[in-house]
Amino acid sequence: MDISTVAAEATPATSSPAAAGAKAEEAGQASLRQLGINPNHWYVLARSRELQTKPLGLTLWQQPILLYRDRNSQVHALEDRCPHRQVKLSEGQVSGSEIVCAYHGWHFNAAGACSHVPYLEANQKLPNCTLRTYPVREQDGFIWVFPGDPARLDAEKIEPLSLPEWDHLNYIATVSVINVQAHYSFLIENLMDMYHGHLHQDYQAWTEPVLQSLETTDERVDAHYQAQSYYRIDKIWSISQLFIPALRQLHPEPLDVSYAYPNWVATLGQDFKICCLFSPVNATHTRAYLIHFTSLQAFPNLHKQPQWFRRWLKTRLFGSAQKMLDGLVEQDVVMLEQEQQAYLAAPHRKGPELNRALVSVQKLIRQQATQRV
Ligand code: FES
Ligand SMILES: [Fe+2]
Repeated sequence: MDISTVAAEATPATSSPAAAGAKAEEAGQASLRQLGINPNHWYVLARSRELQTKPLGLTLWQQPILLYRDRNSQVHALEDRCPHRQVKLSEGQVSGSEIVCAYHGWHFNAAGACSHVPYLEANQKLPNCTLRTYPVREQDGFIWVFPGDPARLDAEKIEPLSLPEWDHLNYIATVSVINVQAHYSFLIENLMDMYHGHLHQDYQAWTEPVLQSLETTDERVDAHYQAQSYYRIDKIWSISQLFIPALRQLHPEPLDVSYAYPNWVATLGQDFKICCLFSPVNATHTRAYLIHFTSLQAFPNLHKQPQWFRRWLKTRLFGSAQKMLDGLVEQDVVMLEQEQQAYLAAPHRKGPELNRALVSVQKLIRQQATQRV
């Protein structure tokens, strides 16, 4: 694995990966904004609670995928296409452990095989039409799908991103959905670039970030910033800092942001963690879930309370940072869609890149997207 650690001050702003990226495009390689995804990773498709008794039809990098829960609540993922007339199977219904097409009522089992046709004549056989199935996991409140090579999944023991805070009683979660008409590279660049706090003003929990160092591998980019944070959860009223800027007190905190391909994770000091789970739809549309966790580690008395109370409190406080998170997303989406439109209007026009973290991000996207499957 190619591991390089770059001290921020050691590398000039116009570093070689940027030049390499530009050269790659000049040499006829695909533009960054048109690159695909590396399918050999787990991708989030939905929140667990979004999938109830009705099937869900979603798209992951141009592939229509159907999610459904069988009678035992087990989740299955199939190609969302009825092989009879090519309509969406997700328009149908679940029956026991099978999915029934809305049009003529053919049944398909979880292995993707046609198992019943209501009007099959005595001398007819069931049609031999098998749908693609996808490995699927329900973990930490989300449904994950693996669109790559199942042999690699087993051989390399590839796991979804772990979110231990989701069920942990010491963390309060908030989820915001990002639905942006832009290539996923614009979104990850936005998330890795702490210098765009200018856009967010009061919504941002930190200010004055300075990139300290950068680590890159074939799998991830870790950027370490130092920032001034408004965010300290050590009093019972601390959460109100999210709504009342006057209560905020600046103090220095490390701000670590990582592109753990294909997802993003950031921490600000001890109390603040935020993740973005990517679900790219196509080259101009990206869905993602932004999840914020506030830690309650600073309240040891709370930890002595009965589990039922702590669970009740966790549930009660779910979504405490909703206004902040939705506000950030709304502002970012405007910028990202303008970037996408500007790219489509003039694909060869490029602005100068002054944040070296983004140069590494672009390099990682290209490496991952062009890996031979
Ligand atoms: S189109 Fe699905 S059963 Fe006919
Ligand atoms: Fe932002």
